[in-house]
Amino acid sequence: MAEHVRVLKSEEEVDARIKAMGEQISRDYAGKQIHLICVLKGGSFFMCELAKRITCDVSLDFMSVSSYGSETKSSGVVKIVKDLDESIQDKNVLVVEDIVDSGRTLSYLMEMLRDRKPASLKLCTLLDKPSRRVVDVNVDYTGFAIPDEFVVGYGLDYDQRYRNLPYIGVISFD
Ligand code: IMP
Ligand code: MG
Repeated sequence: MAEHVRVLKSEEEVDARIKAMGEQISRDYAGKQIHLICVLKGGSFFMCELAKRITCDVSLDFMSVSSYGSETKSSGVVKIVKDLDESIQDKNVLVVEDIVDSGRTLSYLMEMLRDRKPASLKLCTLLDKPSRRVVDVNVDYTGFAIPDEFVVGYGLDYDQRYRNLPYIGVISFD
């Protein structure tokens, strides 16, 4: 079966949007230090680009999670594969994700992080598929709302491939 990738958001569009998000975040957090938490692996490309566009003081940490349940349907119970290196207590935490789909992973993760008593906790995602939402998640910053199609690139994978594409594409098979 051949795989095809069609461009959904070009490299220029993605870069311009991330720049604008960085400016917005810099205004909203003016004078504060932001602690970015990257959800591995998908969020890593976005976080690096976003961090470069933020003019406030920034610190970074990484977390890796996997959801219990089948490959295609996340159960909403999240296993921490790699926890944060540092405490987030009293920090202005901004979680950086690649995509919010059903919302199961993020709603669980945000609850768990809230229990650790950050000064503030917000969520920033490059992509959002609102039509797929099963669990309510409050998204503070969204790059692009997209239709219900399987996307790859800019950190997003299909079977661990395509993360390195500099644009966001829709994958199809024939
Ligand atoms: P959910 O919001 O708990 O359903 O899960 C979101 C996760 O599913 C994301 O972090 C991605 O890893 C994965 N995911 C959802 N939609 C896509 C897609 O279109 N392409 C690649 N990964 C996706
Ligand atoms: Mg992911």
